[in-house]
Amino acid sequence: MRAGIWLIGARGSVATTTIVGALALRAGLAEPTGCVTAHPELAAVPLPGFGELVFGGHDLVAGPVAKKADQLATAGVLPARLVAALGTELDEVEAELRSVPAGATQAGIADAIGGDIAAFRGRHRLDRVVVINVASTEPAPQPHPAHASVAALAAALAKPGMVLPPSALYAYAAFRAGCPYVDFTPSTGARLPALAELAGEQHLPYAGHDGKTGETLLKSVLAPMFAMRNLTVRSWSGINLLGGGDGANLASPGANAAKSVSKQRVLGETLGYLPDGATRIDYVADIGDFKTAWDLITFAGFLGTGMRLQFTWHGCDSALAAPLVLDLARITAAAHQAGHAGPLAPLAFFFKDPLGDAGHALSAQWEALCAFLAGLGDRGR
Ligand SMILES: NC(=O)c1ccc[n+]([C@@H]2O[C@H](COP(=O)([O-])OP(=O)(O)OC[C@H]3O[C@@H](n4cnc5c(N)ncnc54)[C@H](O)[C@@H]3O)[C@@H](O)[C@H]2O)c1
Repeated sequence: MRAGIWLIGARGSVATTTIVGALALRAGLAEPTGCVTAHPELAAVPLPGFGELVFGGHDLVAGPVAKKADQLATAGVLPARLVAALGTELDEVEAELRSVPAGATQAGIADAIGGDIAAFRGRHRLDRVVVINVASTEPAPQPHPAHASVAALAAALAKPGMVLPPSALYAYAAFRAGCPYVDFTPSTGARLPALAELAGEQHLPYAGHDGKTGETLLKSVLAPMFAMRNLTVRSWSGINLLGGGDGANLASPGANAAKSVSKQRVLGETLGYLPDGATRIDYVADIGDFKTAWDLITFAGFLGTGMRLQFTWHGCDSALAAPLVLDLARITAAAHQAGHAGPLAPLAFFFKDPLGDAGHALSAQWEALCAFLAGLGDRGR
């Protein structure tokens, strides 16, 4: 299957690392370390090959993706030898990147976005195109009556004014262009009744929200452990220090609040109660894409004896995120091909704030993912 990935935020750190990584895999210059779909247990699942992925996308900024790749190499995120070896391939991707369309109404902008995606699909004769949002996190939007149904939404979008936040407008455009949509960010994306209705009408799958790559990944392993051992978590406090474009954007209160809500949900839903404490995200320009999370957990055991756990996580955010973006694209393309529609709950394994009812515990999410992928294999035979 020839599959396209249309990246929203295509010139950002996660997108650029995803593109360079896929090109390096295609050229045989790298191993798929960190790609869940390269796990030996999943080897038999019929997914589009890494080498079959074709990239395009939208971004607000215009700086060349090769320049961004150079910057990430200088910052130690990407190996410089890979970026140097992939100059021609990066130029080919550059030709498929588009600036964000402007228009008098959001309906007009959505048509132009959908037109860009459809033209990309046609130019490359792609069987499937998966639209993946890796753009800057947005603040939560104000409720709007037109979010309730497709008919109300179409009517409202045809008038001037902002009805949908950008992430949701991209989901609307993707669905109308016949493409599945994946949200790797905590933004609204397809999480509106009108967009769920549209995906159903078009028989399209979608997935999200907010890639699980660091502190929350550890929470989704540790919180079930406390719950299973019947230990009482009294407090769970975390501080995340982050630079780069994501860190700078999360310094704004609206985006910061959207991210913090997404990061905290795992605790309440896994433990069955919310311990004291909060998750903070602070911007430290100098550390760039290398995030540090410090968490302190206080808990009570037998006879109320108090104990503590602390951990420190130093992760390279884009290097953790990019392989998951490739996994999500390959799985969602195959799920679309196999006829799945609606929210892909078994993809909860990848997300901080997953759609559907697969829960937050990583081991249960892994079982659900493996079962889903085995089902794709059965449908493919
Ligand atoms: N890296 C991780 O581990 C991780 C994990 C989960 C979620 N995320 C999310 O992924 C997203 C991307 O992270 P990043 O580090 O690449 O950020 P970044 O700042 O490097 O890149 C974001 C890109 O989005 C573009 N953009 C902003 N608004 C846009 C719009 N309306 N349309 C098109 N493009 C737009 C920006 O110009 C920029 O190029 C963020 O929302 C982040 O919260 C990252």
